[in-house]
Amino acid sequence: MPEQTTDESSYTMGYGEDFLQLLNRRSAQTNAAMLLPHLEPGQRLLDFGCGPGTISVGLASAVEPGEFHGIDMEESQIAIARAAASAGGHANATFHVGDVTKLPFADDYFDVAFCHTVLTHVPVTAAALSEAMRVLKPGGLLCSRELIVSSSFLEPGEEKTRQAWNAFAMLLKGNGGHPEMGKELKAHFLDAGLANVRASASFDYFGTSQDIAFLFQFILEWFHAPEVVEVATKYGVATREQFAEWRQDLDEWRDEPGAFGTFAFGECMGTKP
Ligand SMILES: C[S@@+](CC[C@H](N)C(=O)[O-])C[C@H]1O[C@@H](n2cnc3c(N)ncnc32)[C@H](O)[C@@H]1O
Repeated sequence: MPEQTTDESSYTMGYGEDFLQLLNRRSAQTNAAMLLPHLEPGQRLLDFGCGPGTISVGLASAVEPGEFHGIDMEESQIAIARAAASAGGHANATFHVGDVTKLPFADDYFDVAFCHTVLTHVPVTAAALSEAMRVLKPGGLLCSRELIVSSSFLEPGEEKTRQAWNAFAMLLKGNGGHPEMGKELKAHFLDAGLANVRASASFDYFGTSQDIAFLFQFILEWFHAPEVVEVATKYGVATREQFAEWRQDLDEWRDEPGAFGTFAFGECMGTKP
């Protein structure tokens, strides 16, 4: 597996309907719960790597009438975010296509900068954090929530499914990503020069039969998609036989009455001195 592949493949998750369905379950209430108590009307807020804006719209509401800006490198996601903000009447929200390592904003512009499952994918963490620091006002708040693949699980069957999680981690790494970023955030925030740094952790969980059906379908459509299997086998991450075994394990997990699944996240907050 090369350290980094082409531009096209450098974002592991892609922009297909399967992954969009997962992002559609997110909201500011569930995925930015640690940030919401710090938000006030009138603040200027940046959501960098905002994707289709399912978290953004709640953040825009929380700072209304303050300016909300969302930015993502993928035009199709920004189009979805713009449509969602317009449908929700969020007149304070503006969305931009752009790179989080080259933000199109002036220095000292924002009161708050937030990102969710973005540093997991950006190869050079310091490049993203230094840009976020640049556009924050002194005293401004930076907050991030990122994946911890090794603490995410499917139960029962943790031992059997761990290999598949490890393969997912290798795919992320192969595209320059960081499968354990949620654990590493605090150290990165300190290195970036943030003050008052505090880390926390939480789960996105799948606990009802509808949630289990959703997660099963998502794993099937995303992880077992022919393109993912192709890349994983091409770079020696896994064999087709392993994928077939993991598919069987997944079927067994779905049929367990006690089936439970989570994605684990590390969170971090700090202020610009
Ligand atoms: C997993 S999605 C998360 C989207 C949203 N934050 C959420 O949690 O629902 C990661 C997003 O980061 C974006 N992204 C990754 N690297 C980027 C970069 N260098 N500049 C801008 N966006 C980037 C991707 O296009 C994708 O939309």
